[in-house]
Amino acid sequence: MSTTFQLDTATSRANPTPAPMKRLTIPAIRRRKKDGVTEDPIVMLTAYTARQAQLLDAHCDLLLVGDSLGQVIYGLSSSVPVSLDMMVNHGAAVVRGSYHAAVIVDMPFGSYEQSPQQAFESAARLLKETGCAGVKLEGGEAMAETVAFLTQRGIPVMGHIGLTPQAVNLLGGYNARGRSEAEAKKIVADAKALDEAGAFAIVIEGVVEPIAIEATRAVACPTIGIGGSPLCDGQVLVTEDMCGMFERVPRFVKRYADLAGVISGAAADYAAEVRARTFPGPEQTYQPK
Ligand code: KIV
Repeated sequence: MSTTFQLDTATSRANPTPAPMKRLTIPAIRRRKKDGVTEDPIVMLTAYTARQAQLLDAHCDLLLVGDSLGQVIYGLSSSVPVSLDMMVNHGAAVVRGSYHAAVIVDMPFGSYEQSPQQAFESAARLLKETGCAGVKLEGGEAMAETVAFLTQRGIPVMGHIGLTPQAVNLLGGYNARGRSEAEAKKIVADAKALDEAGAFAIVIEGVVEPIAIEATRAVACPTIGIGGSPLCDGQVLVTEDMCGMFERVPRFVKRYADLAGVISGAAADYAAEVRARTFPGPEQTYQPK
């Protein structure tokens, strides 16, 4: 896939060159898994801003506007306080900044759990105001009715099971799930319930590997792992973790760059040049009369 793109400054869109690519559709993503096999693994990364989307777009099948933006962008201690307005604003920016990947926007805590009707209102707002292709929500069997309600009304839904960060207060932390037999059974049952309800894909987060594999084999739709197993049908990471923006990252994250080092190094060089008055100014320095 081409890694070059031209920025259209009028629209903020990054058009891959030479021939613009067509945006991937949800049915095309769903069809990647045929008879239990995904030959072409699904690549997903989080994106929260237009510029980030421009840089990631050509490399990804899916861009996820995750509610992890609560911690990553807003410095919150969890995703619980994230609002629908935040998701709308960042979702719209990511759609404007992308051209090829299908954009999925997270439904934040409190915007969908009360009833299928509440979920429909929130999801419809996300689709209308951002232009995203679908939404993601957390929860398994308990959310199956809602997933069916949304998909039957034209809203593609990605499920999210295992470690579900919006339930951090109930779970008591972000530890891997599926260690006990009861938890393992529940995760596989959750995957099946979402699949049967019509989810087009399911994120499996923070689950011991044999259970991530069992859940992947148990469903017809693709699974997307994060701290699950490389044998899931696709993978997702928080882009800032992947790029080394934070000193502390989950154990399963491989860093592909040291952006924190690059940015603080650039700031240190800039500060030194300003303080030494060697900062390159305009060619014509100001001459008092
Ligand atoms: O909010 C998020 O970024 C997510 C991914 C980690 C799957 O849900």
